[in-house]
Amino acid sequence: MVDAYQPLDHGLALDRDCTTLSRHVFQQLQNFGPDAQDLSALMNRIALAGKLIARRLSRAGLMEGALGFTGEVNVQGESVKKMDVYANEVFISAFKQSGLVCRLASEEMEKPYYIPENCPIGRYTLLYDPIDGSSNVDINLNVGSIFSIRQQEGEDTDSTARDLLQNGRKQIAAGYILYGPSTVLVYSIGKGVHAFTLDPSLGEFILSNENVQIPQHGPIYSVNEGNFWQWDDSIRDYIRYVHRHEGYTARYSGALVGDIHRILFQGGVFLYPGTLKKPEGKLRLLYETAPLAFLIEQAGGRASTGTQEILDVVPDRIHARTPLIIGSKEDVALVESFIQDKAREREEKFAASR
Ligand code: AHG
Ligand code: MN
Ligand code: MN
Repeated sequence: MVDAYQPLDHGLALDRDCTTLSRHVFQQLQNFGPDAQDLSALMNRIALAGKLIARRLSRAGLMEGALGFTGEVNVQGESVKKMDVYANEVFISAFKQSGLVCRLASEEMEKPYYIPENCPIGRYTLLYDPIDGSSNVDINLNVGSIFSIRQQEGEDTDSTARDLLQNGRKQIAAGYILYGPSTVLVYSIGKGVHAFTLDPSLGEFILSNENVQIPQHGPIYSVNEGNFWQWDDSIRDYIRYVHRHEGYTARYSGALVGDIHRILFQGGVFLYPGTLKKPEGKLRLLYETAPLAFLIEQAGGRASTGTQEILDVVPDRIHARTPLIIGSKEDVALVESFIQDKAREREEKFAASR
């Protein structure tokens, strides 16, 4: 008779190295049903896109045609970088013939991109910002990708994608990939927030932080103060407050993903408020603010426009923008308190003038 095999005790290290993204999705859902299979496969494809983008970024300075502008302007009115185009196409390629996603919508495409051969089997839509923080690309600083997965409810050919014009609570999964000194993928399927680090020797994202919880308060405030005179008084008052109080420190990288990653682990608040010229701010709801709001809420933080939870905002078009105040609960509430104070003051003045 053959004795049952007894594994040698390489315990913890092997267990950690085997916790890949797809295995983790199954662990969280605790089943191998069709939805779990789909989500696991979706995350695997997103990871593949992340690996391809990380590979190109790591050698960009040595390659012909990897850096610089294309000369085009996108639907946002922003100059397009070659890396934006590459990363946009990487996501499309990763999902072609996957049977997973019928439609992709991104910052770089005016209308959603349909993959007819995946419809109607692939009843999901992937929304993404292929390169977040594009201004950092040419100077070898960190950039990211942001993603969000929603159930597809509309017709396969409805180019207006009206079914996407719903609130952020409709997201099934969301996250980002940060291309920094290492490549890190952070995701949530509504069961906490988990971070994976790309092990280049394995070519796999391996679980590095499980159930990440954002501190309730932190020292960081992250905002482009160059816009100071463009903001409403309430935001200026908040910034004056942090200038006058000990315990705050400014960090702003020009890539939302990097700034949010720091705040997720160390606490604090990121702000991109509206300006007088652009009351809606700069950041787009469906593939920037809503996925990050989903993630930060799952980590125990909050995301607000200043007057409304980001996850409650219903966009009127796919590239709609929202102001963003996101991070530790106490810090978001503090910024909101300045907005409320100013609104009250204005109401009182108005009432007194009547
Ligand atoms: P993107 O590169 O996808 O257009 O996003 C850039 C965003 C965000 O990453 C960053 O926080 C912000 O724009 C920076 O904008 P400012 O240069 O106006 O501060
Ligand atoms: Mn962006
Ligand atoms: Mn972008």
